[in-house]
Amino acid sequence: MAINGRIFSSLFSLLFRIIIAASLSSQNQVYVVYFGEHSGEKALHEIEETHHSYLSSVKETEDEARASLLYSYKHSINGFAAVLSPAQASKLAEMEEVVSVFPSHPRKHKMHTTRSWEFVGLEEEVKSQLQSEKSGSLLARAKYGRNVIVGLLDSGFWPESKSFSDEEMGRIPKSWKGICQTGDAFNSSHCNRKVIGARYYLKAYEKYYGTLNTTLDYRSPRDKDGHGTHTTSTVGGQMVPDVAFMNSFARGTASGGAPLVHLAAYKVCWATPGQDKVDGNTCFDADMLAAIDDAIHDGVHVLSISIGTKKPTAYYEDGIAIGALHAVKQNIVVACSAGNEGPGAGTLSNPAPWIITVGASSLDRKFVAPVVLGSGLRLEGETTTPYKLENKMYPLVYAGDMSLPNVSQAVAGQCLANTLSSEKAKGKIVLCLRGNGTRVGKGIEVKRAGGVGYILGNSPANGQEIVADPHVLPATAVGANEAIQILKYINSTKYPMANIIPARTVVHTTPAPFMASFTSRGPNVIDPTILKPDITGPGLNILAAWTGEDSPTRLGADDRKVEWNIFSGTSMSCPHIAAAAALLKAIHPTWSSAAIRSALITSAGLENNNGTLITDASGKHADPFQFGAGHFRPTKAADPGLVYDASYTDYLTYLCGLGIIIADLSFKCPQVAPKTNDLNYPSLAIPKLNGNVTITRTVTNVGKAKSTYLASVRPPMRYHVKISPSMLSFKHRGEKKSFKITIEKEKDTMLSKKIEEGAYEFGWFSWSDGIHTVRSPMAVSSA
Ligand SMILES: *[C@@H]1O[C@H](CO)[C@@H](O)[C@H](O)[C@H]1NC(C)=O
Ligand SMILES: *[C@@H]1O[C@H](CO)[C@@H](O)[C@H](O)[C@H]1NC(C)=O
Ligand SMILES: *[C@@H]1O[C@H](CO)[C@@H](O)[C@H](O)[C@H]1NC(C)=O
Ligand SMILES: *[C@@H]1O[C@H](CO)[C@@H](O)[C@H](O)[C@H]1NC(C)=O
Ligand SMILES: *[C@@H]1O[C@H](CO)[C@@H](O)[C@H](O)[C@H]1NC(C)=O
Ligand SMILES: *[C@@H]1O[C@H](CO)[C@@H](O)[C@H](O)[C@H]1NC(C)=O
Ligand SMILES: *[C@@H]1O[C@H](CO)[C@@H](O)[C@H](O)[C@H]1NC(C)=O
Repeated sequence: MAINGRIFSSLFSLLFRIIIAASLSSQNQVYVVYFGEHSGEKALHEIEETHHSYLSSVKETEDEARASLLYSYKHSINGFAAVLSPAQASKLAEMEEVVSVFPSHPRKHKMHTTRSWEFVGLEEEVKSQLQSEKSGSLLARAKYGRNVIVGLLDSGFWPESKSFSDEEMGRIPKSWKGICQTGDAFNSSHCNRKVIGARYYLKAYEKYYGTLNTTLDYRSPRDKDGHGTHTTSTVGGQMVPDVAFMNSFARGTASGGAPLVHLAAYKVCWATPGQDKVDGNTCFDADMLAAIDDAIHDGVHVLSISIGTKKPTAYYEDGIAIGALHAVKQNIVVACSAGNEGPGAGTLSNPAPWIITVGASSLDRKFVAPVVLGSGLRLEGETTTPYKLENKMYPLVYAGDMSLPNVSQAVAGQCLANTLSSEKAKGKIVLCLRGNGTRVGKGIEVKRAGGVGYILGNSPANGQEIVADPHVLPATAVGANEAIQILKYINSTKYPMANIIPARTVVHTTPAPFMASFTSRGPNVIDPTILKPDITGPGLNILAAWTGEDSPTRLGADDRKVEWNIFSGTSMSCPHIAAAAALLKAIHPTWSSAAIRSALITSAGLENNNGTLITDASGKHADPFQFGAGHFRPTKAADPGLVYDASYTDYLTYLCGLGIIIADLSFKCPQVAPKTNDLNYPSLAIPKLNGNVTITRTVTNVGKAKSTYLASVRPPMRYHVKISPSMLSFKHRGEKKSFKITIEKEKDTMLSKKIEEGAYEFGWFSWSDGIHTVRSPMAVSSA
């Protein structure tokens, strides 16, 4: 008997009703009611009428139905967002035409906070563009991204930033259908040939939080937060020479990765009322879906979405996953951040295989500011604080010993607000430990209490990773080992003394890159047969444009203003990958989004600048659950040799394997449900292997017409991997060849340790023709 879409869909809505029941609250809230694609040509008003009739069928009156409708998604995505009771939502979920109904989740958009392009090898190229164009370089070949349009879902942008000037920008592509939506402090003159489109979406936000407080944010595409300006300029900001953070650090030419792309800002993230800005923005699924639907219609080629979830979300109630699938149907490349929820396992967001999921790693740059102790000991520290102490020794104290009478030593030791005694701390350098409270906020407390200098010490949980912050007084930050050494020194002497050497920027530091401890990790808990993240890019201490109206730390108590800022997060690495995708799109305009993703993945690098495998922040070897295939190498990605291609239909077939229908209810699943592992993905994840498994992959020759590739394997420990055939010969470009990979667990012997159940082992397989190495990571665990 044929298993058709209907069976899948009813199975699916059953699954869904359970979910609704589980998250049942009596409160009315915004739900997304999702129908998949639009079938046939319909006028926009007809679509809205259809949506309205669904709503009317669960609402008491027509007026109530009209009043409850927030969005009617009309272009690619078929669905609407409306205020519903849980009972109304369940009723809609049961209807045959409905794919899913899910609450419009609020998502936090939290940041952990020049050199990126040089570091990934576009270095000479960025410089040479300022002098003369060097032909043959990736940037030159890609014409710096000319004619490619990248859309960002974020907090908007700051139009006055030099990054968004339209000097030397080409004409706006004729295909562009976007608009420049006016609003607070924003009119059509704020778009230009660089930022060609700008829109904003806040209906779901306002249903949740009430009318936007315009003291907190602009009701327009103008960015109040800084995040959107930072990510937008990272993708495609103009080259702006001689830029530095707080006039002191990371001086150089600021440039987007694809400096001549056109940009389009879709503002979907807004200030969270009642929270300090440092705690991040909030973005809602219903608003994001509206933005993606417009972005597809407007004609973007690449979407960069630096928005994650705290908890992994099933595809069918994940607005980004749903929107991205519709985007991919139009061949739009979608890059998303993996999230900042590391270092725990299984923490990553945005795991759908039609998305490029991006982890974060370091650059080879530090902002060095050592501490010198009275004993003569010099300890490494880092900061982007421009303020300096005099060249003499100052009394050094531990904040825990400076507490107010009503405060415990442990609490004062973390320098929380109003915990330090000014009588005790005045004139001293104060050591505070991480824990509760923000890193910069602790310095504000030291300053309030009259301290002259501030040392931020990592707690053991933070290890040796330092996020360089611009503190409000002379300061530096040290790793956990150094913090203990300072505490020991304070204990060891009657008059502990210290100085903090003013910070300076140092490049070519080793080892680099290393994985940021905050970067979210695999395994992919939504579908463990898809290896995620896909790739890593720079996300630690990244300099990019800022609003100029805002403090570098986003703390309410910090009233400094900067036009350039250094921030960290997978939010910062995602736009690097989006920029690389834009360059590839410019060079290979006919490639599918899967081919572009494959090129980026299979060309990624595994080594740091010390020539060893990329490590984590503590110096241990990192693995594909942290970096995916490795660190991106855009120049190599432009000429990958072979690609693992996949079509929109392939994704729908893949979803059949999961028993899920997303975009197309009429899609006929194959009679035998496919294995999810069979999606032609450029990496491999096999959870709970029992005995052996054989998987098929197909590569397409995009290199030389006549070429021969040989397979090689680095099997995961205690597994055998066989590739057959082990040689592929191509006669022309575009030719496809399939091969099989068989993975088998080693027999346990007396000597070998039993393979630990559920523990992942990692390996690689690759195809090489002597010029290209097309490498895929694999992750395997045993049943
Ligand atoms: C747009 O706003 C600017 C001020 O920011 C103003 O100078 C300009 O005249 C306005 N342009 C239009 C078309 O309204
Ligand atoms: C808007 O935000 C400002 C700044 O936080 C606050 O002082 C004000 O009370 C808020 N207004 C409303 C109506 O909530
Ligand atoms: C401790 O007492 C002081 C007043 O002496 C007050 O300002 C401060 O807020 C208190 N701190 C805490 C943490 O309770
Ligand atoms: C941080 O605050 C939480 C909640 O008040 C508390 O449970 C935890 O122990 C604190 N952490 C530290 C390191 O003091
Ligand atoms: C410093 O001395 C205090 C009290 O004498 C003790 O509790 C603490 O563990 C010592 N710290 C270090 C790092 O030796
Ligand atoms: C990396 O290489 C540099 C210079 O070659 C060396 O000084 C350093 O110790 C190495 N670091 C590690 C972690 O191996
Ligand atoms: C794989 O397992 C099957 C039975 O589960 C067995 O018949 C077959 O020989 C195995 N293949 C290999 C390559 O070991």
